[in-house]
Amino acid sequence: MSTISKKIGVTDAEQSKNILNDRKVMTVPDFRARKGTQPLVCLTAYTAHVAHLVDAEADMILVGDSLGMVIHGMPNTLGVTIEHMIMHGQAVVRGAQKALVIVDMPFGSYEESPEVAFRNASRIIKETGCTAVKLEGGQEMASTIQHLAARGIPVMAHVGLMPQQMNTAGGFKAVRDEDSWQAVILDAKAVEAAGAFSVVIEGVAEELAQKITKSIQIPTIGIGASAHCDGQILVFEDMIGLFPRVPTFVKRYGNMEEMMINAINRYSSEVRDRSFPQLNIHINQKKTELTGIDIIFSLNERNNSIWRLSSE
Ligand code: KIV
Repeated sequence: MSTISKKIGVTDAEQSKNILNDRKVMTVPDFRARKGTQPLVCLTAYTAHVAHLVDAEADMILVGDSLGMVIHGMPNTLGVTIEHMIMHGQAVVRGAQKALVIVDMPFGSYEESPEVAFRNASRIIKETGCTAVKLEGGQEMASTIQHLAARGIPVMAHVGLMPQQMNTAGGFKAVRDEDSWQAVILDAKAVEAAGAFSVVIEGVAEELAQKITKSIQIPTIGIGASAHCDGQILVFEDMIGLFPRVPTFVKRYGNMEEMMINAINRYSSEVRDRSFPQLNIHINQKKTELTGIDIIFSLNERNNSIWRLSSE
């Protein structure tokens, strides 16, 4: 089996067919080469199945440290650990086939020194199989980005509103005031010069996003930063309407919370009035019949999906 096949657990033949039929696996140079061309579609994912769904459309999947809030119920991203990032990174890499998978470096894992950053970034890459890491910071992180990029670790930078700096900034503060624009432009230029292959720009005025996108040669990925970026990213749960507290710039493309509440309500009333279950499937009744595992997989069978794997 090839590396990609091992990752998702399908045979080489199935995998080659898949690669020939679908778009190709996104590499860091491919991603970088999209500067100024077709907009880059990026979304977060934290689980294998969501990664599998997002992978069908996205150029990049970010295992963001926003998982602290979205998945683990933390008030901000500061409590997220490398172990959290590795566990969710592994799940996402198992579910994704073509998109570039990037894992966020959590607060405290890279700021101390370039050497500490290398140790932690290489661990994230080794243990998850992701392709690149993202870290927050501009000019102050340039030497760290240079250290990582020169040693085989592709880095996506993150400037503008930096959630990990919420305590020094006094909250999640967008960059509105024109007096602070120049610092963000210098940050973007510094991370580019240091070797970052792309940069997330968060929470900045439209004109500033436009200036940055025009002044650097690496793709800018906007979040709350207008359409004047080379690509866009949103947190998946925000985008599908599953997370209650979202920033004002988030557009909701669905209302999953309502669908889930509805399903939970219907299920609970059907259990209470005994109208569920209807089918009388006896698992392992006789040796010749389907086992519970077979039933599950035959019900969930989908092409080229990790969900299709049986006990082989
Ligand atoms: O943690 C995250 O999800 C992010 C994106 C919102 C850019 O950093």
